Amino acid sequence: MDYFTLDQLDRINESHERPARFAVIGNPVAHSLSPQLHQPALDALEQNARYIRVEVEPGQVKEAFEKMHAVGIRGINVTVPHKLEAMAACHRVDPGALTMGAVNTIVFEESDDGEVKRTGFNTDGPGFTRAIREEFDIDLGSLRVLILGAGGGAGRAIATQCVLENCSQLILANRTVSKLTSMRAELSQLGNHESLEGPRDRIETIALDDPALEEALAASNLIVNTTSVGLKSIDPAPITTTWIQPHHLVYDTIYNPAKTRLLRDAESQGARIANGLSLLLHQGALSLEYWLGQDAPVEVMRGGLKEIL
Ligand SMILES: NC(=O)c1ccc[n+]([C@@H]2O[C@H](COP(=O)([O-])OP(=O)(O)OC[C@H]3O[C@@H](n4cnc5c(N)ncnc54)[C@H](OP(=O)(O)O)[C@@H]3O)[C@@H](O)[C@H]2O)c1
Repeated sequence: MDYFTLDQLDRINESHERPARFAVIGNPVAHSLSPQLHQPALDALEQNARYIRVEVEPGQVKEAFEKMHAVGIRGINVTVPHKLEAMAACHRVDPGALTMGAVNTIVFEESDDGEVKRTGFNTDGPGFTRAIREEFDIDLGSLRVLILGAGGGAGRAIATQCVLENCSQLILANRTVSKLTSMRAELSQLGNHESLEGPRDRIETIALDDPALEEALAASNLIVNTTSVGLKSIDPAPITTTWIQPHHLVYDTIYNPAKTRLLRDAESQGARIANGLSLLLHQGALSLEYWLGQDAPVEVMRGGLKEIL
């Protein structure tokens, strides 16, 4: 079965030896790669657990969490369009996730008196830190970053992470530049640590079609695409790619197709490139670590993804 609906939850363990313990919710959810990422890891860790997909209608996320916990689910991933509703359905939200404005990982905690509390995390931001280290062998915090599509969910998570990592420059670019005004204000307020000397006061915003983007790109060393431009193989690049230079690291959060037009052009400009598979991998590994309290078998998870992509 590709996925279950809420009405089918009482049957999730029918004709299965191992109980369903982890799940992803979304709508639609049948396409989610999370089972292929997590099941091999659960098997490698000898967990007596299955990872399933559950389709949930908008407006039913809190009910879904309650019902899923009642049938034995102990950890949940949240995908589109529920990341915001899931945040509202948590008893506690991790501060980073709060600024990212979305949660993608739910952890259940049961108190001694049997009360169940849900905590929401967003592993996209921290997963991005790991992805950049793995792909380019460099710390995100040491980079001057420009995010294309910063007004979307993934862009916001990555922008938040850049502030938390104290990047020395952060330029937010979006087609609809008005979306960036409140986000910039929120990011500037993020944390109150004296140790954060990064871009909080120096976050810049720019429209994707502003000619000044050329200069902004030249001043950056990491370009991240979080627009959905490139998801179709015939899509153009979201920017003029002749502006990309050999000193650039170009990370496209899209992983299917594996090489978007942006990545192909960036490569021919002499830049180093990487696609979003590493983000998918590491955000998933972090979810597993929250649920199980132990290191995730990252190579096993990578193998699971490679098999299907
Ligand atoms: N690798 C991973 O694990 C991972 C995880 C999450 C997301 N992603 C990828 O990140 C991308 C965004 O996902 P999301 O969840 O953040 O979606 P989203 O919230 O809907 O945001 C979409 C973003 O794309 C921009 N956009 C859409 N069409 C555009 C166009 N024709 N020209 C310029 N900009 C355009 C939007 O700009 P406006 O604000 O102007 O509409 C917005 O910034 C997707 O490609 C997704 O595959 C990858």
